[in-house]
Amino acid sequence: MSKSTLRINGSVVAAQPKAGSLVISYSDALNAILESEGWPGGGTERDHDHSEMVWEELPAIASHWLQTPDEPPILLDEATGKKWEAVLRSRCLLKRQNPASGVGRELRHPKPIHIDFSDLPFPPLRKPKFTFMDLFAGIGGFRIALQNLGGKCVFSSEWDRHAKETYLQNYGEVPFGDITTLSSMKLFSKSLDVLAGGFPCQPFSRAGVSARNSLGQEHGFECETQGQLFFDVVNLAKVHRPKILLLENVGNLIRHDGGNTFKVIRHTIEKDLGYSFYYKVYNSNPLVPQSRVRCLIVAFREKQSAFWEMPELTGKALPLRSILEDLPSDTNYTLSEKMWNGHIRRSARNVARGAGFTAYTRDLDKPSTTLVARYYKDGKECLIPQENHPKNLPRMLTERECARLQGFPENFMPHSSKVRAYKQFGNSVPVPLIEFVAKHIAITG
Ligand SMILES: C[S@@+](CC[C@H](N)C(=O)[O-])C[C@H]1O[C@@H](n2cnc3c(N)ncnc32)[C@H](O)[C@@H]1O
Repeated sequence: MSKSTLRINGSVVAAQPKAGSLVISYSDALNAILESEGWPGGGTERDHDHSEMVWEELPAIASHWLQTPDEPPILLDEATGKKWEAVLRSRCLLKRQNPASGVGRELRHPKPIHIDFSDLPFPPLRKPKFTFMDLFAGIGGFRIALQNLGGKCVFSSEWDRHAKETYLQNYGEVPFGDITTLSSMKLFSKSLDVLAGGFPCQPFSRAGVSARNSLGQEHGFECETQGQLFFDVVNLAKVHRPKILLLENVGNLIRHDGGNTFKVIRHTIEKDLGYSFYYKVYNSNPLVPQSRVRCLIVAFREKQSAFWEMPELTGKALPLRSILEDLPSDTNYTLSEKMWNGHIRRSARNVARGAGFTAYTRDLDKPSTTLVARYYKDGKECLIPQENHPKNLPRMLTERECARLQGFPENFMPHSSKVRAYKQFGNSVPVPLIEFVAKHIAITG
């Protein structure tokens, strides 16, 4: 696992800790900072002088700062960064065998502090080639893709508590919460290369639209809580002026509301932001064995050559069998007889009335259908046939297989709760699709 070089207020911190440097793991460092701030605090008394927002976001602020310590902590000032450096220094010295002699020497010749991220599956890069923001970060599909290309995440935001847990255990960073409260602020002074994210798609997807229609709810931009999030992306772009916007949504985005939604998106990016606008709808199945149709939008701050185009994705659809684990037929991913019979009955009814869902087992030589967040309930969208099962009962995909369907690397650590893991993979993005488009931008953009 690669070690990361970071700078803490000017003191170079070696990739491999230099002899005598003060080494602290990112998790110890994070705990030390939070403890020093009295977070989360025991009683009802406020024993801190932070604003409500800073207090709520303290784990995000501290964990971001540990990854980018040459900037002041987000929402705080340089003095706080210095204070936190002192906290880490004293925590390291306390841990030393002979603290008394160490402290004396340390005061005269401060040693570099080495933050060790090596126990993380995806530590921050040592020598990044570009910076990016990971918005609506989920479990970091964009983050892995952009880190693979040499990017360094300088800001992440995700408000779901469980997704934050998965994010922390994989990247060592707690994403900030509700982006609507932060999107008009200058969050850091560093220049930003890529603003990336899959803004929530429920208000735009076909399934989401029909569910909302039947509930009498608004959809698209009229859905106040979710549809407006595109404008938070725009606000952040206005403040930080990234070189590139890289956005993802459902394929149906271009048709929603007779094309008006997409027109507004395009117009806002071109006219309000002054960026050049490109898009393409892709089926991800030559890259992952899943038919997942996604609209990718790329916008450039600087004008591109007249010949710039979104890349073509060619190649055969991959077979589902290529990502399957070898499981015994009595695996506990096997459906109960009751559930399987229920699927069959409902499918027969739906076939008779010519509409609705039919649950059959998948052809393993074809890609899976689109993985969805509700998959954990009964797996009906993608059931794996088990010919060696005595009652021919099919099984669900495992969490690892779902990770593979979205192209997550094998060392990715899913959420420890099965339900959360399924939901999170269903909401995520095919990592290789993002990498494919981002690589094309890096080469040609
Ligand atoms: C389509 S998912 C994106 C998944 C992500 N691309 C990934 O790779 O896992 C959209 C995410 O936006 C998050 N979200 C929705 N509204 C938000 C808000 N106001 N602030 C921060 N995150 C939000 C949801 O919790 C959800 O995880």
